[in-house]
Amino acid sequence: MNYGSLMSPETQECPWDFHKSLRTDAPVYLDPQGGFYVISRYEDVKEAFKNWQGYSSKEGFPRYSSEATERIYATGYGDFVDTLTSNDPPSHDRYRSLVNKVFTADRVNRMEAYIQQIVDSLIDNFIDQGRTDIHNEFSMKLPVTVIADQLGVPREKISQLKEWTDVAVASSVGLMASDEDHVRFAEIQVEFQHYFVERLEERRLQPRDDLLTDLVQTRTEEEQPLTTAELLSVIRTLLVGGNETTTNTLSAGIVQLIRNPRIADQLRADPTLYASLVEEVLRIDSAVQGLFRMATQDMNIGGVDIPRGSICHLRIGSANHDEAVYECPGQLRLDRRSKRHIAFGAGIHMCVGAMLARKEIALGLRAVNERLSNLRLAVPEEALTHVPNVALRGFTSLPVAFG
Ligand code: HEM
Repeated sequence: MNYGSLMSPETQECPWDFHKSLRTDAPVYLDPQGGFYVISRYEDVKEAFKNWQGYSSKEGFPRYSSEATERIYATGYGDFVDTLTSNDPPSHDRYRSLVNKVFTADRVNRMEAYIQQIVDSLIDNFIDQGRTDIHNEFSMKLPVTVIADQLGVPREKISQLKEWTDVAVASSVGLMASDEDHVRFAEIQVEFQHYFVERLEERRLQPRDDLLTDLVQTRTEEEQPLTTAELLSVIRTLLVGGNETTTNTLSAGIVQLIRNPRIADQLRADPTLYASLVEEVLRIDSAVQGLFRMATQDMNIGGVDIPRGSICHLRIGSANHDEAVYECPGQLRLDRRSKRHIAFGAGIHMCVGAMLARKEIALGLRAVNERLSNLRLAVPEEALTHVPNVALRGFTSLPVAFG
């Protein structure tokens, strides 16, 4: 039976009914337009994430290449090599052990006062105006400022860094781009490569106290430094992984605060509850709605055969709303005691930046809730739209008023 397609912009805008139909009637569904299997139940999605032998990330990553883009990459450092998200063990282990050290709970806790300062100064910029597009002015700026500082990129370069990130996201997980788009993406990515190769060279000559220096100085188990191509790929993954996802979760959280004024009051009365708010927002409005893998052997889920070589889409956004795990899944409940959501994935690729993201979102939402009184949408809720994307979910803008 045809339940629709994840490739349809209407389904992407509002995927909840589609997810529910699949969970109920077709938990392993061959998407008629996409040609991939959508896996939609919590246990199945989690199991597939953990089974990296059966579901390859390296082969599952949608890739685009044409003569035109190859010519452009030849003027830089080649197309990006597989290090983290688009890689499998044993090669993945090597890079993963390097980035595991970057955003540990301990390091993130030490960053708290610094993140709070950025949060406050972003709000200071618009608090007197009574209205703003909070998606652009706050949710976008917070994570990109943090990651720019970590990489040692000067703040005047932040809008450039944001453009590079957006292009990297669009070219890797969009699936909606045209040939012309990909040519433009390649040109911009080569610009990114040249910029960072110069910065890496600077760090080799003059080490600083920043993440780029750590990456340049890092040695693998065989005592080898990472190659330029590997360094560029790791930097790009940190940018792609950390920016849009955190931005979208912050904006989704702001909308939840507006929709649930009693919960907003409860949070102001008891700030220890922000941690639960963050988990509920991550679950309800998962910024990564789904990821691709390739079946490395014939698989069977609940009686449905998935032939070897098939592309599978592990639908996080549906798993996190599975009624078998979450009672009234669309409802924000600060006292939920259900199983942990899988907004950060599961298994060997589980998000490296989860601690940092949680900290940014908690501090960001708390400041919005406590500093912007009488916060409301400045447009009817039906006018809010999301960026069309198979894998990611986030608003195009979020106009709000306050005071
Ligand atoms: C709300 C914010 C975030 C969400 C929802 C999120 C989600 C995810 C998910 C679902 C994965 C698993 C990918 C897979 O299985 O293929 C992942 C991996 C990753 N994330 Fe995040 N992420 C967030 C924030 C961050 C931040 C702040 C950073 C770093 C600055 C980051 C860096 C990474 C990296 C490097 C990986 C690749 C790990 C690997 O392949 O081993 N993420 N993230």
